[in-house]
Amino acid sequence: MDVLIAHGGASHREDLKKIVEKYAFNAIEEENALNAVIKAVMLMEDDPEFNAGTGSNMRLDGSIQMDAAVMVPNDFGAVINIEYVKNPVLVARDVMLRSPHMILAGDGVLKFARKLGYEYYDPSTEEAIKRRERVLQKLKNGEIPSYYHPQFLAEFLGDTVGAVARINGEFAAAVSTGGTSLTLRGRVGDSPIIGAGIYCGKKGAVVATGIGEEIMRRMLSFRIYHRIGEKCLEEICREEIEKFGDVPVGVIAISDEDACAISNRSMPYAIVKTQR
Ligand code: GLY
Repeated sequence: MDVLIAHGGASHREDLKKIVEKYAFNAIEEENALNAVIKAVMLMEDDPEFNAGTGSNMRLDGSIQMDAAVMVPNDFGAVINIEYVKNPVLVARDVMLRSPHMILAGDGVLKFARKLGYEYYDPSTEEAIKRRERVLQKLKNGEIPSYYHPQFLAEFLGDTVGAVARINGEFAAAVSTGGTSLTLRGRVGDSPIIGAGIYCGKKGAVVATGIGEEIMRRMLSFRIYHRIGEKCLEEICREEIEKFGDVPVGVIAISDEDACAISNRSMPYAIVKTQR
């Protein structure tokens, strides 16, 4: 049985579940797990409803810097703070498959992408511009104490998108984000950090969403991966998420036996299965 899980971000609208489900069904048709998770993430990057690719949040200075990563057992590729490309997840794949490196960042990753033929693309949208204006206004009014404020993600972020899959017994994971809109240029979240926002090995695959700083602090994805086999996967994820208290967070995880999606906020997700 092949399985793919996709999510559209912790604290994002539950009514996007149908769209996430449509993308997940489309993606699971791919011939292997890596292509399937990339397809699921690409579809969400191209949909401005999600905070990744087109529709990404803006930094406080008005720029858009995106992070993305892909992982399979024993290989990893990530891009950090990439600008002006349509699909960061594809560049992350190419860092893994077509460079000797695992992570490329900033102007270096943009040069790499252009060399490979990725064209100039502006991912900004009217909605992202308005979101930033609302953030700036609130800051001026002193209304946002910090982005750990429970309302913050719900109002401004609609976090990361991600997918994990097991196809023909092989695992893969992919993730992409525009980050939060209350950040400095250059800020890096959990998504492109191996073991924090993403992990994949022979036992399974995990992708996280939520406040990147807290996810990194706890190495959430690796922590869950490491515990696979200890007890039911859903219980493991629930225990790890409980440790975050009120901090918004979510995970999707898959193993040989189980597949689950859990968040302490609303999180549109889909778990789809198919028999080849
Ligand atoms: N979880 C995405 C971020 O914090 O950037």
